[in-house]
Amino acid sequence: MMLIKLLGIPEDVSADGYLVDHMLEFCHWFMLLLFVGWSCFFVYLLWRFRKSNNPVAQYHGFRSKATTHVEISVVLVEAVLLIGFALPLWAKAAGRIPTDGVLPVHVTAYQFGWLFHYAGEDGKFGRRDPSLVTGSNPLGIDWSDPDSKDDVVSMNTMHVPIGQKVVVRLTSKDVIHNFACMSLRVSRDAIPGLANPLWFTAVKEGEYDIMCGQLCGAGHSLMKGVLSVEPVDQFNTYIKTNKAAPTEQKTAVVP
Ligand code: CUA
Repeated sequence: MMLIKLLGIPEDVSADGYLVDHMLEFCHWFMLLLFVGWSCFFVYLLWRFRKSNNPVAQYHGFRSKATTHVEISVVLVEAVLLIGFALPLWAKAAGRIPTDGVLPVHVTAYQFGWLFHYAGEDGKFGRRDPSLVTGSNPLGIDWSDPDSKDDVVSMNTMHVPIGQKVVVRLTSKDVIHNFACMSLRVSRDAIPGLANPLWFTAVKEGEYDIMCGQLCGAGHSLMKGVLSVEPVDQFNTYIKTNKAAPTEQKTAVVP
């Protein structure tokens, strides 16, 4: 994976990120090979059809079976890339939404930050109503709903346990944002009115960057979040001790 390092992409901390890395790696090497190959061919043609050697223009140009063979090989390599790598990756990243043993998290983007809503110990999300939205209740959660009693809302820090599949439902309160976490090799648009699914399994403890991947306004560049990958016990304690109110605000929320 030397190319990934060369491109400056952060270390992969997800269970399935290697599929994305393989695609990046193979595509870049293949494109490099094509670029060098075609460049050499171009230089060869410049030399071969130089004016001193061809006082009269040759309109039929270069003729060889070799170029046809190269073109067919390129098509074959591209077919392998598509069928062998891209389609399996797509099936895994955008196929059936996983349901077994997953941790559901509702992620809401806004200008300019992230809200993470956890169902809490009962596994049920409390009712949300836009008319209940206030400064201290940014998601408009109906706290009188029994399902919302143990819900947890975190601002800008997403807590996830190591090794558990997390299924995110992604939406936005205002304009289109994009939930992008390079360390997990995931990125998906947050669109008002939609609950876009996205899933990953983080396998390494630590804190990683969450960025907004869509230009969304003056504070776009400041719309950063933190992905905190924690041991299961620590995550469970967090959920138990942070019921109800939005907690933390590691990055600035600007105008
Ligand atoms: Cu939100 Cu850019």
